[in-house]
Amino acid sequence: MSRLEVEDLTVKYRSGRHERIAVDRVSFAVAAGGTLGIVGESGSGKTSLAGAVAGIVPTAGGRVSIGRRAAGRQLRRHPVQTVFQDPYGSLNPRMAVGDAIAEGVRAGGRSGAAVRTAVSEWLEAVGLDPRTASARPGGLSGGQCQRIAIARALAADPEVLIADEITSALDVSVQGSVLNLVRAKQRELGFTLVVISHNLAIVRFLAEDLAVMHEGRLVERGATQDVLSAPQDPYTRSLIDAVPVLGGSRPASNGDRQ
Ligand SMILES: Nc1ncnc2c1ncn2[C@@H]1O[C@H](COP(=O)(O)OP(=O)(O)OP(=O)(O)O)[C@@H](O)[C@H]1O
Ligand SMILES: [Mg+2]
Repeated sequence: MSRLEVEDLTVKYRSGRHERIAVDRVSFAVAAGGTLGIVGESGSGKTSLAGAVAGIVPTAGGRVSIGRRAAGRQLRRHPVQTVFQDPYGSLNPRMAVGDAIAEGVRAGGRSGAAVRTAVSEWLEAVGLDPRTASARPGGLSGGQCQRIAIARALAADPEVLIADEITSALDVSVQGSVLNLVRAKQRELGFTLVVISHNLAIVRFLAEDLAVMHEGRLVERGATQDVLSAPQDPYTRSLIDAVPVLGGSRPASNGDRQ
């Protein structure tokens, strides 16, 4: 079965003589078209893991294999696309956002006149006016920029999308619409999704399976419902206790953390 398979993935950072293992022999698999949520405290290695899976961060060991989501489909040169937390930081401030999406479209294999058409289609697909193409990131809201980043990633036609804290920098009023967009696009296009978040409400909304990361390791993995209602690992329990409950009385500050 086509899927994302990660085996013994390890990421180490070196500063001078000091070496830090940010991701420690992590293994997991996600079924094609499925969604895995990854939660864990700040510094537990989530973004390093995302970068390693996407091939952006060098690995010190392990392997990543990506299957095609449909037979006969050609595997893209960039089969894993990542959308990060900071919607402005992930876009070139000097580049018109239409050109940013065009990069994704070309990575997805289209060229020539088809690129322009696809850019307009993608802008509409993420709920923006095609005329937004000429805007620079600085002239758009955070929510609009995150939609552009999602459009650019999906235009590359990835097998796997990694969403790393994609709503934590956004105003609460637009977080829901960005999450709905990702979920709708996944249903339509069938990509495999890895959702990284501090916020358990977000992973519960998007992911049927949940993995808990602690100090570079996955300490628990299971159906989201089961993990949240009956956590087996003590660390998972403390994480659940620490996270504000959506609609609860505790302040919703966790999702906005760096
Ligand atoms: N480029 C880097 N160079 C050196 N150390 C790094 C680098 N990136 C991350 N680290 C370290 O690796 C560990 C894991 O960091 P990482 O950013 O992957 O965690 P995270 O779970 O994504 O945290 P957060 O929830 O705050 O985003 C941390 O101790 C961090 O300081
Ligand atoms: Mg991170």
